[in-house]
Amino acid sequence: MLKQKSIVIWMVGLSGSGKSTLARALENSLHKEGFLTQLLDGDNMRTGINNNLGFSPEDRTENIRRAAETAKLFMNAGLVTICSFISPTDEIRKIAKEVVGEGYVEVYVDCPVEVCEKRDVKGLYAKARKGEIPNFTGISAPFDVPKNPDVAIDTAHQTLEESHQTLVKAIIEKIKY
Ligand code: ADX
Repeated sequence: MLKQKSIVIWMVGLSGSGKSTLARALENSLHKEGFLTQLLDGDNMRTGINNNLGFSPEDRTENIRRAAETAKLFMNAGLVTICSFISPTDEIRKIAKEVVGEGYVEVYVDCPVEVCEKRDVKGLYAKARKGEIPNFTGISAPFDVPKNPDVAIDTAHQTLEESHQTLVKAIIEKIKY
């Protein structure tokens, strides 16, 4: 019915790397091309289904597990599902990949922590440096660089438009009917 191949686009990256901005831009472009999508991110998962979870390693794991299970439901319903979560460790991403199974496409939104910290869009890095936010990814909690992403986007050296175009091109290849 939908004339699209459904997949889960799993966007990985530090806070401030550009994941959510790119995810929204990707979603807009896919809509213009006639694809039906669902976006899952910290905003709509952590305020709802995951509102009992914080940022301990255990809670992050559960956050990602539930997000991946939810993404799988949307994928199985035929939607192109875009997920934007830090997904900080190899272990956490392994869970996401295993839960989603076939159709999991990992996109690494690559931006060094120094650049994210300089951008500090939400002012969280400054707070983390002052010790006001414990377990902050990249500062006081780990982030493993993804070793084998399907797509890597270098937002530190590209403009948003360049990153956006690279991503749209890579994704449309995978979802066109
Ligand atoms: S994940 O690690 O479990 O994948 P998720 O993507 O859901 O993280 O949420 C990350 C967002 O939560 C960040 O962009 C930031 O706005 C906020 N946040 C609050 N506390 C932390 C923290 N300790 N570490 C990282 N992000 C945090």
